[in-house]
Amino acid sequence: MMMKWRGWALATGVLAISALAQAAPPSAAMLSNACAGCHGTNGGSAGPSMPSLASQSKEAIVEAMKKFKSGERPATVMGRLAKGYSDADFTAMAEFFSKQKLHVTSQALDKAKIAKGASLQDSNCGRCHIEDGKEGKDDTPVMASQWLPYLQMQMAEYQSGKRKMPEKMAEKVKPLSGADLEALLHFYASVK
Ligand code: HEC
Ligand code: HEC
Repeated sequence: MMMKWRGWALATGVLAISALAQAAPPSAAMLSNACAGCHGTNGGSAGPSMPSLASQSKEAIVEAMKKFKSGERPATVMGRLAKGYSDADFTAMAEFFSKQKLHVTSQALDKAKIAKGASLQDSNCGRCHIEDGKEGKDDTPVMASQWLPYLQMQMAEYQSGKRKMPEKMAEKVKPLSGADLEALLHFYASVK
């Protein structure tokens, strides 16, 4: 008897949940709540190894999620996480985060490196990382005010070949010295 009741309660519970799901698909804000623990409320990350998503280019977020899901882009946690979502979810979350205000960070950055990076960025990176990194052309990520340790980790992954660099970006990155690249990352992290 007990078992039967429990089965009934379970079945109606499931029915109620699926009816709810049909009535209201999860909103972009609800979906994005699952990201707040690491990327911060509204996409402003509090941790230096975690990128901010606020104001990130919509295409860049969708592309990143697809690459995490397929395993093409290396990840500590995002690969596993991305598998739980559909392309439609990626678009909804990307729309939500791209509309949030840029998360302006205050980081300890090197003034001389910022100045050097500023002089290098336009001719080397500005074709895609436009407006001093505040905008991204097509699927190019926004880098303005991004955490420096995150940017450094990504550059290291590109250079080791673990993360695949777009060919046209590689053409620009390869001739630069390690010090030049470091200066460029300080510059982008400094942009407010
Ligand atoms: C447990 C912490 C954690 C959670 C939760 C999390 N992320 Fe991430 N996210 C990371 C880390 C760490 C990285 C850097 C890549 C890696 O190591 O996995 C990252 C990277 C990203 C990037 C790449 C950004 C760029 O500039 O290239 C995107 C996009 C992203 N996450 C989206 C999301 C979305 C959307 C959610 C919610 C569904 C989410 N993340 C939930 C930790 C997290
Ligand atoms: C031809 C366009 C192009 C050029 C030029 C370019 N990039 Fe990129 N950059 C991209 C794209 C597209 C991505 C995302 C690609 C991916 O999926 O990994 C990216 C990603 C990055 C990232 C990772 C950001 C993140 O949020 O994960 C860094 C760091 C970066 N670029 C630095 C540079 C620097 C420094 C230069 C100049 C020396 C440069 N890029 C030149 C297109 C470009």
